[in-house]
Amino acid sequence: MIYADYNATTPLSEAAKAGMAKAFECWGNPSSSHRAGRQANALLEESRDKVASAAGLHAREIVFTSGGSEANGMVLMGSALQCGSSFRLLTSPVEHASVEKALPLLCEKLGAQVERVALAEDGALDMADFRNKLETFRPHLVSLMAANNETGVLFPVNAIAEICAHTETLFHTDATQAFGKIPSTDFNRADFITLSAHKIYGPKGVGALVIRGDRKLECTRFGGSQEIKRRGGTQNMIGIAGFAAACEDLKNSHVETIRALRDRFEAGIKNSLSDFTIHGATVSRLPNTTCIRFHGILSEILLTALDLDGFCASGGSACSSGSASPSHVLTALGLAPEKAKEAMRISWGRFTTDEEIDRSIELFVRHVSRIRQRRMDRKAL
Ligand SMILES: Cc1ncc(COP(=O)(O)O)c(C=O)c1O
Repeated sequence: MIYADYNATTPLSEAAKAGMAKAFECWGNPSSSHRAGRQANALLEESRDKVASAAGLHAREIVFTSGGSEANGMVLMGSALQCGSSFRLLTSPVEHASVEKALPLLCEKLGAQVERVALAEDGALDMADFRNKLETFRPHLVSLMAANNETGVLFPVNAIAEICAHTETLFHTDATQAFGKIPSTDFNRADFITLSAHKIYGPKGVGALVIRGDRKLECTRFGGSQEIKRRGGTQNMIGIAGFAAACEDLKNSHVETIRALRDRFEAGIKNSLSDFTIHGATVSRLPNTTCIRFHGILSEILLTALDLDGFCASGGSACSSGSASPSHVLTALGLAPEKAKEAMRISWGRFTTDEEIDRSIELFVRHVSRIRQRRMDRKAL
């Protein structure tokens, strides 16, 4: 198998497995005051320190969640409830489904108003439009992702954080895809930050919402006083210990090696095939991602052929694959729906090898050429 879908999820690292094993032995409830509870609580707080340190933040700012989706929901719902029916949110048209799909509820049930910042060429954020909407729409919250899960395009979120701070506007960034792939100092100035463990070789079902300093959010998860009353519910200790170990292991991410492998793949495709577009290639993007569209070939057809040869990638995001409608991210780039259905996301990671890149180029050349030839033969009949 050649796994090229690291933006969907990453394999569990040995470090994360070892971290999780620690929590198997430390099974007390971290909220209990007796010895078993205190042991679990020590592991919980040690884990919080490790996540905070990897993200360049204070431990107190880390609220453990069930993942990136929950953290995004907590910020949007918590801010809307904190603000009341006058809530105004400024976001983008390419956010993850956990943001995008919350918007109708915010507007229809909570009376919120939502504006979206326009995109510039190749999926970059139109900063002039951002400044203009910040001034005229005067949002209570800006929510813009640090890195797009489908194209890998980066938004300049630290610069945005500074601009928001000047206008006293709260800023949330979904750093689920950025964390571990770009330095945390590129996104950690936001007021609220979303993180997820399973994109950094940790377990699924755990992540964090970072709430900086004294920023306030209405609580939307009720239960005990866990997470300093910011998210009720007994913590997922096995997940959290695995997340912390994965954070500690980020030094082994080999980001520059992955970038070189990704660039070699793209160069190999350019040398052997024509009539394709790599989306986001002209702007800043994640070092591991190639969003590519072979003109005239539905990604579903190409991915099925590649899968039979053991190559795993996805058409659009993992969440939208399997759905008949084209990805909202690609249509927001201005692609017609039929063209958006031609796009596929290839994302490499720490376990990708040179040999896999060579074999992948070979597979793409073989299948793209074969599908195109077959089509020409049919036309000729
Ligand atoms: C940008 C982005 N945000 C949020 C999420 C959701 O994270 P989780 O799977 O931890 O809920 C994902 C997952 O694909 C993502 O790519």
